Amino acid sequence: MENKINIIWYNELDSTNSEALRHISDFDNLSVIAAICQSGGRGQRGNRWFSAPGENLTFSIVLKPGIGGIPHITTQNIFDLNRISSLSVTSFLSSQGVEASIKWPNDIYFRNRKISGILIENNIVGDEIVSSVIGIGINLNQTEFPELSNATSVKLITGSSIAIKEALEEFCEVFKRTLSLFGNNSLSDIYEDKLFHKGRLCRYSDYLRDTEFEGKIIGVTDTGRLIVEEGPRRRTYAFKEIGYIL
Ligand code: BTN
Repeated sequence: MENKINIIWYNELDSTNSEALRHISDFDNLSVIAAICQSGGRGQRGNRWFSAPGENLTFSIVLKPGIGGIPHITTQNIFDLNRISSLSVTSFLSSQGVEASIKWPNDIYFRNRKISGILIENNIVGDEIVSSVIGIGINLNQTEFPELSNATSVKLITGSSIAIKEALEEFCEVFKRTLSLFGNNSLSDIYEDKLFHKGRLCRYSDYLRDTEFEGKIIGVTDTGRLIVEEGPRRRTYAFKEIGYIL
């Protein structure tokens, strides 16, 4: 796999994902668009992503499947992108002394606090992923989160500050290694080993049935649905159909 990652730093952008999407045809495969400051960081479900300027990592990876040795990705194996992205973050964090877990589908948690979020935006033609923008925010040095009640950072956990540009170089090395696991049979097991709450009896909201229940996460299907056991019954859930009660 040809895998040269080119990092492009900006002092300020509205959102690295928005910038990557606006100029997707100008960016080479495996370009990384990084911002010291994001004025309009975007999260999942239309939420905002707050990050203090210069303290954390906010960046987006441009991936063009089927080009330069990157495998073809279709709507059938698209969940592997979530697996690769979240495992890259947990491996990177582990190298910084933080053993984090993956709150399905791709939030990264340390204990009950969020340390990183991932927003993947795909351009799909037919059932082929033509390009993908993998936006990642990782809290490194920020120690106060006025807008958020459940955020944490590497510094809050380890006490150490990290230089953000060096940290992104290191993350990219980890990402390249993890990307080579694409399509590998063991990828889903490696992902599930890191799954937040897996095998523990916990409370969840079932948004489809408008109820709460106690259940155990036992895994994730190949299409990315969460498998939860509730007593003798197993159900699978899509994103937005289930919520964790923490
Ligand atoms: C979430 O947890 O809701 C996803 C957060 C994703 C945030 C990152 S920061 C870099 C990239 N640019 C954005 O606007 N969002 C993503």
